[in-house]
This record gives sequence, structure tokens and C-alpha cells, in this order.
Amino acid sequence: MTLRGFRLMDLLIGFVILSSVLYVRAWGNLGHQTIGFVAQSFLAPKALEFVQTTLGAQYNFSLGPAATWADEVKSEPAFKWSADLHFVDAEDSPLTGSCSVNEQRDCGNGQCILTAIANYTARVVDPTLDAEQIQEALKFVDHFLGDIGQPLHVEALEAGGNDIPAVCSGESSRNLHAASQDTGMVTKHIDQSHGGTTEQYATDLVQEIQAGSFESVAASWISCSSPTEPLSRRSSTAEEISEKTHPGAQLESELKRLIHARQSDDAITPLACPLVWAAESNAFDCSVVFNFQSGEDLCSGTYFENAVPVIDLQLAKQGFRLAAWLNVLFDGATNLP
Ligand SMILES: *[C@@H]1O[C@H](CO)[C@@H](O)[C@H](O)[C@H]1NC(C)=O
Ligand SMILES: *[C@@H]1O[C@H](CO)[C@@H](O)[C@H](O)[C@H]1NC(C)=O
Ligand SMILES: [Zn+2]
Repeated sequence: MTLRGFRLMDLLIGFVILSSVLYVRAWGNLGHQTIGFVAQSFLAPKALEFVQTTLGAQYNFSLGPAATWADEVKSEPAFKWSADLHFVDAEDSPLTGSCSVNEQRDCGNGQCILTAIANYTARVVDPTLDAEQIQEALKFVDHFLGDIGQPLHVEALEAGGNDIPAVCSGESSRNLHAASQDTGMVTKHIDQSHGGTTEQYATDLVQEIQAGSFESVAASWISCSSPTEPLSRRSSTAEEISEKTHPGAQLESELKRLIHARQSDDAITPLACPLVWAAESNAFDCSVVFNFQSGEDLCSGTYFENAVPVIDLQLAKQGFRLAAWLNVLFDGATNLP
């Protein structure tokens, strides 16, 4: 039986599993808040003003608290349509060491995180939308730039890990997704090493970016170039890469083009930078995420030790990228070191 077949069987076996697919595909609130707080501290003046005004006191004027809204509403009837936008089901084969994301193969129906990021990025700066729609768009961008850094959000295998039983700190978890990248490991890591709060964790990651282990690589996080497969459906990418003058140049030109070309809803195509980010996250499915024995405790020992640096890296990176994204939209440049 194929893996795909196993997955279908799992789905047929119980509604519990089926419903878990809808509810647990997330970094968990802690991961999302951390990404939001990291981004908040790198915002340029106009982006910061926009974020504070748009989110208001309800979210303490910050991308941190606002980052979890999209997960909170996706199970409500009014927002059920948004549940598929949190991930892209990459139909690759991580158990045989073959990882890849392909926009045609994996997002052919145009309803995935790649199109959602393009959609809500355009909506954040769409002058025809009202204040509520703009706030909603910002909260989606805040959240989806986090989700795309989560390896299991860029993986179809066993519904992004939701159907794989896993153990965390001695407790059997309902699935790999919940135990590994979600609340289990992130909670333990924050409690153990970052004072138990997402604010402190974000402060520590910002410090690593400014003057620590991430200082030398942070610029590459916003360069949007990677030796992945050629990007389809985009004609201007090659010439833009050759025009590149600084690490954020491609990201800047891509977003500026998006601002000027209002898309109709059926013409939303993925942007180049998020495709690069998706491929990066997906590569961790081959190297780290599915690399465990059945019954192995994921929240201790080797698996945990290997995963923590990936969690730190992905949260810091996506926070930094979220800031770059909003800075280009509102201040015209990434405005980052
Ligand atoms: C709101 O944000 C400020 C910093 O901007 C912080 O000092 C304060 O603790 C936050 N309040 C809450 C309730 O998180
Ligand atoms: C784009 O945003 C609108 C408004 O929220 C939504 O109805 C539509 O489904 C979105 N499409 C995608 C692909 O994100
Ligand atoms: Zn999500």
C-alpha cells in the first residue's frame, strides 16, 4: 500500500483524526507569538506606525499577540474557508530522502499558503478595502509568514504529520505535529532556556540576530535566492536576480510590483520569496522532522537536541522576514542590517 493509501485509511478510521487535521496544523500559539514579537522589533518607522494603528489596543499594538488570530478563527464556521490556506501539501517523499515543493503540483487549485501570502500581502496595501479587512489581511500575513517556516506546513505526508502518533516528555501525543514543532517542544524549550515567556524568547532571538549566532546569516534570510527548482509562471525573476544589488533587492522589487499590479481573485499567483522559504522549510522534513524511531521521546534526547536549533532558526528567520516584508510595503525598503 502506498503512503498516500495509508493516509486515506487513517482518515477513514476515525473522525478524531480527521478533525485533528483541521485543528493542529500550527506552530502553536507560542511559536507564532514569538515570530510576531521578533518582527515587531525590526519594523521601520512607517511599518511600525501602520501595525500599531491597524491592530490597536486589542492586540497591544503588536504583531506578537495578533499572530494567533488566524488559528483561532479557522475552526469557526465563518472562517472555515481559510483552513486550507495555512499550509501547502507538498507531495514529495521525505521518508526516502526526497523533499521538494512544486507550485503546480502542490498548489494547483490556488488554495494554499503560497497563494494566501500573495493575496493578503496585496490586500494589506489595497486602498479599496475597509479598516476591518485591512486588519484581517495584516493578521493573516503575520500568521502565514510564520506557518510557512514550519516544516510540517510544507508537507503532505500523513497530513503534515497529524496522523503520526508521537511521544513528548513521556506523554503520548495525538500526533507528531503537536509534539514536535508545536506546543510540546516549543513550550519545553521556552521554559528551559528562555524564561518561560514568548517576549523573552523573542528578545533572545533578536539578540542572536543583532550580535549573536545569526548575525552573519540574517542578510541571507531576505535574499530569496536558493538553488531550488526554476520558478514557474514568473517571467521577470531572472532579470531581477541579475539586477540584484543588495540582499533584499529581489524581495523589494517583487513586492513593489505586487503593490502596483492589483490582482483579480482568480489570478493570484505565488510570489518568488515565499516559494524559496517553503522549499527551505520542506528540506527539514528530510533532514530532521521525520527522522525518529516509533515510540522515541521527541522532547528529550537526540531528537530534541537536533530540533531545537531548527526551531530557533525558523522562528528568528520568519520574524525577520515578516519585518522585511512590512518594511518594504510601508517604508519602501527592507531597512534591515
Ligand atoms: C504591551 O506592550 C508593551 C510594550 O510595547 C509591554 O510593556 C506590555 O507589557 C504589553 N502588555 C501586555 C498586556 O502584553
Ligand atoms: C483572498 O482573500 C479573500 C478575502 O479574505 C478570500 O475570500 C480569498 O479566499 C483569498 N484567496 C486566497 C487564495 O487566499
Ligand atoms: Zn496556521
